Amino acid sequence: TEYSAEINAFDTSNADELEQFRIRFLGTKGIIKDVFDQFKAVSPEEKRVLGKVLNEFKQLAEAKYSTLTDLISDTGLKTEDSGLDLTLPGEGFEVGARHPLALVRREIIEIFNKLGFSVAEGPEIEDDWHNFSALNFPEEHPARDMQDTFFIKKGGENGDIALRTHTSSVQVRMMEAGKPPFRALMPGRVYRNEAISARAHCFFHQVEGLYVDENVSFADLKQTLFYFVQELYGEGTKVRFRPSYFPFTEPSAEMDISCTICKGDGCQMCKYSGWVEILGCGMVDPNVLENCGIDSKKYSGFAFGMGIERIANLKFEIKDLRLFSENDVRFLKQYKTVI
Ligand code: PHE
Repeated sequence: TEYSAEINAFDTSNADELEQFRIRFLGTKGIIKDVFDQFKAVSPEEKRVLGKVLNEFKQLAEAKYSTLTDLISDTGLKTEDSGLDLTLPGEGFEVGARHPLALVRREIIEIFNKLGFSVAEGPEIEDDWHNFSALNFPEEHPARDMQDTFFIKKGGENGDIALRTHTSSVQVRMMEAGKPPFRALMPGRVYRNEAISARAHCFFHQVEGLYVDENVSFADLKQTLFYFVQELYGEGTKVRFRPSYFPFTEPSAEMDISCTICKGDGCQMCKYSGWVEILGCGMVDPNVLENCGIDSKKYSGFAFGMGIERIANLKFEIKDLRLFSENDVRFLKQYKTVI
């Protein structure tokens, strides 16, 4: 009864005091443990009476402890010595965002995935053979010139070593390493020696596409790219093909789409023409197939290459290429978050 009165009178909003209470009554060396130990020694008749009393006593202590624990955590536990106040609002944390180029790359890959294209990658440091010679570039082609290409080392088994100027080098690596059919996308970073401005950079990103099989025609090329554009920019986006030249495709073309920003009435992006060029493409030149050990009588194919920055500019209306590589959080956090 003496203890019962003490328990009834006990009140605290202090966690340390409550802990003292728990140790005193409910702890492994506490009062309750002690009286229950003594209880074992009493006679059976006394047990019947005392048992009830002791159980009530134990329940009383437990109830008090749990009520006070609830109260303390409800009102916010403030322990004087730590100064910790759990009622304070939490500190916000920033969630990262995906880079717009990564978002666009993903989207491009997903569209072509539906057509059965897989993904392949190749090295950024390339030799002359994979970047130029195998791709049918003549010895004196201006693209080999110092002005465009960052050369790293002269000579070597496969010619000069340089930073790749386009992802077409991965086409060569893929065809050398395997057997047709090939149906793959090859995303990656490429380098060109250009002065950095809003419209040019010394590196940018491309996605290369390659499809080689028996009886692949220019009609397959057109339909594939037409489907791609409808998926990426929405149905009703128009495409047009202009004849062009690349050493590694014959015939070659450049593909324009109807300007997605001004919807045809003219803007800086399409230079008031209503059309924007988005990629280069063509039928893989038979010389390239042969250079990679593929029978050009049996197989044909198409290839295309697009700049991811250009595709992203048209999607997000980004006007300065430098934003992509400056890592300014004010720019980056406008895009889709990681979660
Ligand atoms: N490699 C070319 C470029 O960088 C693009 C291209 C790829 C053209 C494949 C045709 C076929 O401009």
